[in-house]
Amino acid sequence: MNKSCKVTLTVNEVERTAEVEPRMLLVHFLRETLNLTGTHIGCDTSQCGACTVLVNGEAVKSCTMLAVQADGASITTVEGLGDVEHLHPIQQGFWEKHGLQCGFCTPGVMMAMVSLLQEHPAPTEEEVREALEGVICRCTGYQFIVDAVLHAAAEMAKLQESGNVSDTMPVGEGR
Ligand code: FES
Ligand code: FES
Repeated sequence: MNKSCKVTLTVNEVERTAEVEPRMLLVHFLRETLNLTGTHIGCDTSQCGACTVLVNGEAVKSCTMLAVQADGASITTVEGLGDVEHLHPIQQGFWEKHGLQCGFCTPGVMMAMVSLLQEHPAPTEEEVREALEGVICRCTGYQFIVDAVLHAAAEMAKLQESGNVSDTMPVGEGR
């Protein structure tokens, strides 16, 4: 029988500790142990990207990592981006540019795109499309997603210019 292991991680700025089975995937830990069901599971082949979260600021498919491997890490899930009163620019972009249809892929796509915008604040359309290669949308045809990301990049640039830098960060990163 597998012995359980204690893991402690910071999720959306809140420290969480739990006993987990060593084989438990991070995505199951987030969804089932922490009830953060915004992170979705869309495949069993690590291809769809619906489970993408930020681990220490880097986009990671949370079905490819064990919860125990994330011990000590700082995780941001889609719940940590913003809320209805205070949308993150990427959420605002998806809203303004109709970047979703069924919405199943959307949390993972947004987390992957937040990671892109952190590394490349002013991406070209081609760079956005390249970054989207790791996340699959079965509905939109991607054009509206690309429009949403470019809109978010422009809004984030305006916020940076006006000094509201914290509004461009997920809540888990000092907002
Ligand atoms: S659930 Fe599809 S890549 Fe993780
Ligand atoms: S909006 Fe339906 S899968 Fe992307």
